[in-house]
Amino acid sequence: MEVIIRSSTEDATKLASRLIKKEMEAKPSLVLGLATGRTMELLYSMLVEMHLHEGLSFNRARTFNLDEYIGLPPEDAHSYRYYMNHHLFNRVNIDIRNTFLPNGMADDIDEECALYEDKIRRCGGIDLQVLGVGMSGHIGFNEPLSAMLSRTRAKALTPQTIEQNAPQFDDVAHMPKRAITMGVGTILDSRRCIVLATGESKATIIAKAVEGPVTSMISATALQLHPKCTVIVDRAAATKLSQQEYYQWIFENEPEWQEYHK
Ligand code: GLP
Repeated sequence: MEVIIRSSTEDATKLASRLIKKEMEAKPSLVLGLATGRTMELLYSMLVEMHLHEGLSFNRARTFNLDEYIGLPPEDAHSYRYYMNHHLFNRVNIDIRNTFLPNGMADDIDEECALYEDKIRRCGGIDLQVLGVGMSGHIGFNEPLSAMLSRTRAKALTPQTIEQNAPQFDDVAHMPKRAITMGVGTILDSRRCIVLATGESKATIIAKAVEGPVTSMISATALQLHPKCTVIVDRAAATKLSQQEYYQWIFENEPEWQEYHK
């Protein structure tokens, strides 16, 4: 795992967008794992800008989202399909048929989960998985006690997650209490992970995720087991990390990061 600390939310998100662009240019048919949430909105607006002004093309990319609420149709403005269309897919040159999210309206949820895993496999696996972190330490919707080897399945959301995401719903009573999510094992199978977390509200959970013991109580700690995981945070989300100077030293000295110094 590597941790990169940037001075502002803008700079941290910019770095994440540049990493994604580099991977997409190196492999135009990249299989990109995508996340939702407020943190990702700025990231997607930057990718849209790169598409419009820097020639970043999505025309051969395939995407798989981490999760979807159970019971919300795609046209519901609170569904993650709606979010993705609105923030990214409708704004870039991606073939919408190459964008995948679990179907939260499926009659047979278990079958839908198995099909989703199968689709990922048939696309050759996820090359680059983008992740945010929830306050419960979830990645996707892998709430506490999610097995490290779990695959795509339905999960009940914790009260903390419901509280965190409720502001996106007009009425908390309308917020689904369950979701389909890729498993921790599904995420760990990706070839590369980028975690983006910004703002002081994420400082405690980032410190636990990066420097705490690996535990299924905090799914994000499983990323310590991933062979190539880059955590990008702004100064505010980094405040509770004990090894900030060490992370900065790595960023300044590893050849891979030289081109990102400006
Ligand atoms: C939701 C998503 C997660 C995301 C999290 C963070 O719960 N299921 O994938 O990481 O939100 O959200 P935010 O960026 O709004 O803090």
